[in-house]
Amino acid sequence: MKKYTSVHDLPSIKEGLKIAFDVKANPFAHQHLGKNKTMILLFLNSSLRTRLSTQKAAMNLGMNTMVLDVNQGAWKLETEHGVIMDGDKPEHLLEAIPVIASYCDIIGVRAFALLENREEDYNEVIINQFIKYAGVPVVSMEAATRHPLQSFADLVTIEEYKKTPKPKVVLTWAPHPRALPQAVANSFVEWMRETDYELVVTHPKGYELAPEFMGNLKPEYDQMKAFEGADFIYAKNWSAYGDYGKILSKDMDWCVSKRQMDVTNNAKFMHCLPVRRNMIVSDDVIESENSIVIQQAANRTVSAQAVLKMMLESLK
Ligand code: CP
Repeated sequence: MKKYTSVHDLPSIKEGLKIAFDVKANPFAHQHLGKNKTMILLFLNSSLRTRLSTQKAAMNLGMNTMVLDVNQGAWKLETEHGVIMDGDKPEHLLEAIPVIASYCDIIGVRAFALLENREEDYNEVIINQFIKYAGVPVVSMEAATRHPLQSFADLVTIEEYKKTPKPKVVLTWAPHPRALPQAVANSFVEWMRETDYELVVTHPKGYELAPEFMGNLKPEYDQMKAFEGADFIYAKNWSAYGDYGKILSKDMDWCVSKRQMDVTNNAKFMHCLPVRRNMIVSDDVIESENSIVIQQAANRTVSAQAVLKMMLESLK
């Protein structure tokens, strides 16, 4: 595996899950793979879970890790080509990438959508430059349009908690005070569409996700109807794709509370975290025994370790 940016980089969902459950059962069984290998984790945006779980996964595999927060202590990076660099960014990505790559065997990159130019974000300008110029395998730790380590962990979690082979999984938009990228929602839909699950996406009008992610799936605009009989509720905010990057609603009726959970099939509640309580989800729902957000976050180590294991094997 030379890159990991989406579900399509796995050999198959089935094989990915097999490796994930293997590393979960035997986290230290493959330490020889990472001996004398180094991973650099490069963050252009903040992180708690991705930073710690990916580092833990690399360490479980015997790797050395280095973490660089680009906006805290490193030179600010220019990412556009052809610009006159007379501003506040003294280093260009085109030099930074090969320099970073010269110090490591695998690079992890977090580079969120800027939500200013849809075409640039959806062309994945930053992570694609890493893939093109690094010369070492690149792992997306959330790029502009996808968060594949998160989605892989989400899948592992649903597999662990499902009570039926084809559970009903509902992705629901929920309100948030700031404009957030569509990456988690896009990626979750992309992964769920690769399974046999019944997937329903619900959001207010105007929040339709990009056609490349939704395919033939039509959104359900009635949140209560969407929740009926659901086995899993996955809440997430995202900004508009059509009216790109805009907040179109802060309708608090969409905050996931007992009112909606009561019409589900005793559904498990999921969120990638961090979550804004009483905006996205009520205290009582996230604190209920049906909330599996902590287990979901714990599985971030599992998904990262499965991906890094496949990458290390491809280095041999
Ligand atoms: N879910 C997730 O990616 O969390 P962080 O932003 O804290 O890494």
